[in-house]
Amino acid sequence: MPAAETCIRNARLSDAAAISQITSSYAGQGIMLKRTVENIIEDIRNFFVADYNGRVIGCCAIAFYTVRLAEIRSLAVLEEFRGTGIGRLLIEKAEGVLSEEGVKEVFVLTLNSGFFGQMRYTEIEKEYFPQKIWRDCTNCPKLMACDEIAMVKKF
Ligand SMILES: CC(C)(COP(=O)(O)OP(=O)(O)OC[C@H]1O[C@@H](n2cnc3c(N)ncnc32)[C@H](O)[C@@H]1OP(=O)(O)O)[C@@H](O)C(=O)NCCC(=O)NCCS
Repeated sequence: MPAAETCIRNARLSDAAAISQITSSYAGQGIMLKRTVENIIEDIRNFFVADYNGRVIGCCAIAFYTVRLAEIRSLAVLEEFRGTGIGRLLIEKAEGVLSEEGVKEVFVLTLNSGFFGQMRYTEIEKEYFPQKIWRDCTNCPKLMACDEIAMVKKF
């Protein structure tokens, strides 16, 4: 079972290319926002990776907005490892770190409400959040036709 042998750790600069590869394949399918290697490097301290015997097979990132509000984003697991519990491990790691920081609400923008429902996130109107959380949207090709669902979990 990959999950039993997988460690979730802070990302290192040397993981940036692997993170980019994993997220790019889903960005190409329109499932998630594209992030360049440069952008991932800038944000590397906010990334976690799933390390399976030295191979990066999944990732996610956190973003802080206020002292009580944060986002989990860029969550992806390599196609061949999907459905093996890695996504759950990544979410649990990110939530643990956010909770330690005192964050009270975590949100996600996603097309995968099934998975996040399973992680006990609930749907919420996007208008609930302050405008400043939409900082990524300006570069999104779907800006005027956003189909992502906002979901939130309160700690
Ligand atoms: C979403 C994703 C990260 C989930 O990771 P994963 O490793 O496949 O998920 P897990 O195996 O950890 O699943 C955890 C639980 O969620 C359930 N689940 C997974 N995907 C689901 C879905 N689409 N709908 C409903 N439940 C789902 C699993 O059955 C499992 O339930 P269980 O613990 O009761 O058995 C992964 O499928 C992925 O990379 N998808 C493509 C990119 C994407 O959609 N990212 C999210 C963008 S915000």
